[in-house]
Amino acid sequence: MNALICFYSRTGATRALAQNIKEILLDHNVECRIEEIEDLKNRDGKIGYAKAAKDAFMGKETEIEEVTYAPADFDMVLLGTPVWSGTIAPAIRTYLNKYKNDLNKVAFFCTHGGGGESKTFKVMGKICGLEPQATLSLRDKDVKKVKHFEVLEKFVKQLDI
Ligand SMILES: Cc1cc2nc3c(=O)[nH]c(=O)nc-3n(C[C@H](O)[C@H](O)[C@H](O)COP(=O)(O)O)c2cc1C
Repeated sequence: MNALICFYSRTGATRALAQNIKEILLDHNVECRIEEIEDLKNRDGKIGYAKAAKDAFMGKETEIEEVTYAPADFDMVLLGTPVWSGTIAPAIRTYLNKYKNDLNKVAFFCTHGGGGESKTFKVMGKICGLEPQATLSLRDKDVKKVKHFEVLEKFVKQLDI
Protein backbone atom coordinates (compact mmCIF):
# COMPACT_ATOMS: atom_id res chain seq x y z
CA MET A 1 0.00 0.00 0.00
CA ASN A 2 1.34 3.43 -0.89
CA ALA A 3 -0.23 6.85 -0.64
CA LEU A 4 0.31 10.30 -2.07
CA ILE A 5 -0.72 13.35 -0.05
CA CYS A 6 -1.29 16.07 -2.56
CA PHE A 7 -2.29 19.56 -1.44
CA TYR A 8 -2.26 23.29 -2.08
CA SER A 9 -1.69 25.79 0.71
CA ARG A 10 -1.45 29.60 0.58
CA THR A 11 -0.71 30.35 4.23
CA GLY A 12 0.39 27.04 5.72
CA ALA A 13 -2.65 25.58 7.50
CA THR A 14 -3.36 22.92 4.87
CA ARG A 15 0.39 22.20 4.66
CA ALA A 16 0.52 21.62 8.44
CA LEU A 17 -2.49 19.30 8.23
CA ALA A 18 -0.88 17.40 5.34
CA GLN A 19 2.29 16.90 7.43
CA ASN A 20 0.21 15.63 10.38
CA ILE A 21 -1.61 13.16 8.14
CA LYS A 22 1.73 11.98 6.76
CA GLU A 23 3.04 11.25 10.26
CA ILE A 24 -0.02 9.19 11.10
CA LEU A 25 0.15 7.24 7.82
CA LEU A 26 3.82 6.47 8.48
CA ASP A 27 2.86 5.22 11.96
CA HIS A 28 0.49 2.83 10.18
CA ASN A 29 3.41 1.67 7.97
CA VAL A 30 1.95 3.22 4.83
CA GLU A 31 4.58 4.25 2.29
CA CYS A 32 3.83 7.90 1.82
CA ARG A 33 4.91 10.81 -0.40
CA ILE A 34 3.91 14.47 -0.27
CA GLU A 35 3.24 16.70 -3.24
CA GLU A 36 2.66 20.42 -2.66
CA ILE A 37 0.97 21.98 -5.66
CA GLU A 38 2.28 25.41 -6.57
CA ASP A 39 -0.06 28.00 -8.02
CA LEU A 40 1.88 30.10 -10.56
CA LYS A 41 -0.50 33.05 -10.06
CA ASN A 42 0.52 35.56 -7.40
CA ARG A 43 -1.93 35.22 -4.50
CA ASP A 44 -0.10 37.61 -2.11
CA GLY A 45 -1.55 40.63 -0.38
CA LYS A 46 -5.03 42.13 -0.47
CA ILE A 47 -5.28 42.12 -4.26
CA GLY A 48 -4.07 38.51 -4.40
CA TYR A 49 -6.68 37.58 -1.79
CA ALA A 50 -9.51 39.32 -3.62
CA LYS A 51 -8.60 37.73 -6.93
CA ALA A 52 -8.23 34.33 -5.24
CA ALA A 53 -11.72 34.61 -3.74
CA LYS A 54 -13.16 35.62 -7.12
CA ASP A 55 -11.31 32.92 -9.09
CA ALA A 56 -12.50 30.24 -6.66
CA PHE A 57 -16.07 31.54 -6.68
CA MET A 58 -16.11 31.54 -10.49
CA GLY A 59 -14.78 27.96 -10.56
CA LYS A 60 -11.65 29.04 -12.41
CA GLU A 61 -8.54 27.01 -12.98
CA THR A 62 -5.02 28.39 -12.69
CA GLU A 63 -1.57 27.46 -13.95
CA ILE A 64 0.35 25.13 -11.67
CA GLU A 65 3.99 24.09 -11.46
CA GLU A 66 4.80 20.70 -12.94
CA VAL A 67 4.25 17.95 -10.36
CA THR A 68 6.85 15.49 -9.09
CA TYR A 69 4.74 12.36 -8.67
CA ALA A 70 2.39 10.53 -11.03
CA PRO A 71 -0.84 9.93 -9.06
CA ALA A 72 -1.47 6.71 -11.01
CA ASP A 73 1.57 5.18 -9.24
CA PHE A 74 -0.25 5.34 -5.89
CA ASP A 75 -2.98 3.12 -4.42
CA MET A 76 -4.47 6.13 -2.70
CA VAL A 77 -4.27 9.89 -3.20
CA LEU A 78 -5.24 12.15 -0.30
CA LEU A 79 -6.16 15.56 -1.71
CA GLY A 80 -6.12 18.70 0.41
CA THR A 81 -7.22 22.29 -0.16
CA PRO A 82 -8.04 25.42 1.76
CA VAL A 83 -11.71 26.42 1.44
CA TRP A 84 -11.94 29.50 -0.76
CA SER A 85 -15.36 31.09 -1.29
CA GLY A 86 -16.97 27.90 -0.01
CA THR A 87 -15.20 25.69 -2.53
CA ILE A 88 -11.81 24.39 -3.68
CA ALA A 89 -8.78 26.54 -4.49
CA PRO A 90 -8.11 26.95 -8.26
CA ALA A 91 -4.78 25.08 -8.02
CA ILE A 92 -6.58 21.94 -6.80
CA ARG A 93 -9.23 22.37 -9.48
CA THR A 94 -6.48 22.42 -12.13
CA TYR A 95 -4.78 19.37 -10.61
CA LEU A 96 -8.03 17.38 -10.40
CA ASN A 97 -9.08 18.21 -13.93
CA LYS A 98 -5.65 17.20 -15.20
CA TYR A 99 -5.25 13.96 -13.25
CA LYS A 100 -8.83 12.79 -12.54
CA ASN A 101 -8.41 9.72 -14.75
CA ASP A 102 -5.18 8.73 -12.96
CA LEU A 103 -6.67 8.46 -9.49
CA ASN A 104 -7.34 5.13 -7.82
CA LYS A 105 -8.78 5.51 -4.30
CA VAL A 106 -9.16 9.00 -2.88
CA ALA A 107 -9.66 10.79 0.43
CA PHE A 108 -10.20 14.53 0.85
CA PHE A 109 -9.15 17.04 3.49
CA CYS A 110 -9.50 20.78 3.85
CA THR A 111 -8.89 23.66 6.22
CA HIS A 112 -11.21 26.63 6.56
CA GLY A 113 -11.60 29.85 8.50
CA GLY A 114 -14.77 28.89 10.37
CA GLY A 115 -17.29 28.43 7.59
CA GLY A 116 -16.80 24.66 7.36
CA GLU A 117 -16.12 22.65 4.22
CA SER A 118 -19.25 24.00 2.48
CA LYS A 119 -19.24 22.62 -1.12
CA THR A 120 -15.55 21.67 -1.11
CA PHE A 121 -15.77 17.86 -0.89
CA LYS A 122 -18.79 17.64 -3.20
CA VAL A 123 -16.91 19.62 -5.85
CA MET A 124 -13.81 17.44 -5.48
CA GLY A 125 -15.86 14.24 -5.76
CA LYS A 126 -17.75 15.55 -8.76
CA ILE A 127 -14.61 16.52 -10.68
CA CYS A 128 -12.81 13.23 -10.14
CA GLY A 129 -15.96 11.09 -10.31
CA LEU A 130 -15.01 9.19 -7.15
CA GLU A 131 -16.46 8.84 -3.66
CA PRO A 132 -13.81 9.62 -1.05
CA GLN A 133 -13.01 6.88 1.44
CA ALA A 134 -12.81 9.52 4.15
CA THR A 135 -13.03 13.29 4.53
CA LEU A 136 -11.53 15.62 7.10
CA SER A 137 -12.33 19.27 7.59
CA LEU A 138 -10.50 21.37 10.21
CA ARG A 139 -10.61 25.03 11.11
CA ASP A 140 -7.27 26.77 10.43
CA LYS A 141 -6.81 27.72 14.11
CA ASP A 142 -7.38 24.13 15.21
CA VAL A 143 -4.84 22.39 12.99
CA LYS A 144 -2.08 22.50 15.58
CA LYS A 145 -4.21 21.44 18.56
CA VAL A 146 -3.11 18.11 19.97
CA LYS A 147 -6.71 16.93 20.48
CA HIS A 148 -7.08 16.83 16.72
CA PHE A 149 -4.71 13.89 16.52
CA GLU A 150 -7.71 11.78 17.61
CA VAL A 151 -9.66 13.18 14.67
CA LEU A 152 -6.72 12.41 12.38
CA GLU A 153 -6.52 8.84 13.65
CA LYS A 154 -10.23 8.42 12.96
CA PHE A 155 -9.75 9.80 9.43
CA VAL A 156 -6.87 7.43 8.70
CA LYS A 157 -8.73 4.41 10.16
CA GLN A 158 -11.49 4.88 7.57
CA LEU A 159 -8.98 4.39 4.78
CA ASP A 160 -8.61 1.02 3.13
CA ILE A 161 -4.92 0.69 4.00
C1 LIG B 1 -9.38 33.78 -1.01
C2 LIG B 1 -9.81 33.13 0.27
C3 LIG B 1 -11.13 32.76 0.44
C4 LIG B 1 -11.53 32.11 1.62
N1 LIG B 1 -12.84 31.72 1.74
C5 LIG B 1 -13.22 31.05 2.86
C6 LIG B 1 -14.55 30.54 2.98
O1 LIG B 1 -15.39 30.67 2.09
N2 LIG B 1 -14.88 29.91 4.15
C7 LIG B 1 -13.99 29.74 5.17
O2 LIG B 1 -14.35 29.17 6.18
N3 LIG B 1 -12.72 30.18 5.07
C8 LIG B 1 -12.31 30.82 3.94
N4 LIG B 1 -11.02 31.25 3.83
C9 LIG B 1 -10.07 30.95 4.91
C10 LIG B 1 -9.20 29.73 4.56
O3 LIG B 1 -9.98 28.65 4.11
C11 LIG B 1 -8.41 29.23 5.79
O4 LIG B 1 -7.72 30.26 6.41
C12 LIG B 1 -7.50 28.09 5.37
O5 LIG B 1 -7.14 27.36 6.51
C13 LIG B 1 -6.24 28.59 4.69
O6 LIG B 1 -5.45 27.49 4.35
P1 LIG B 1 -3.92 27.64 3.95
O7 LIG B 1 -3.22 28.26 5.14
O8 LIG B 1 -3.46 26.24 3.72
O9 LIG B 1 -3.83 28.49 2.74
C14 LIG B 1 -10.60 31.88 2.67
C15 LIG B 1 -9.26 32.28 2.49
C16 LIG B 1 -8.86 32.87 1.30
C17 LIG B 1 -7.41 33.25 1.10
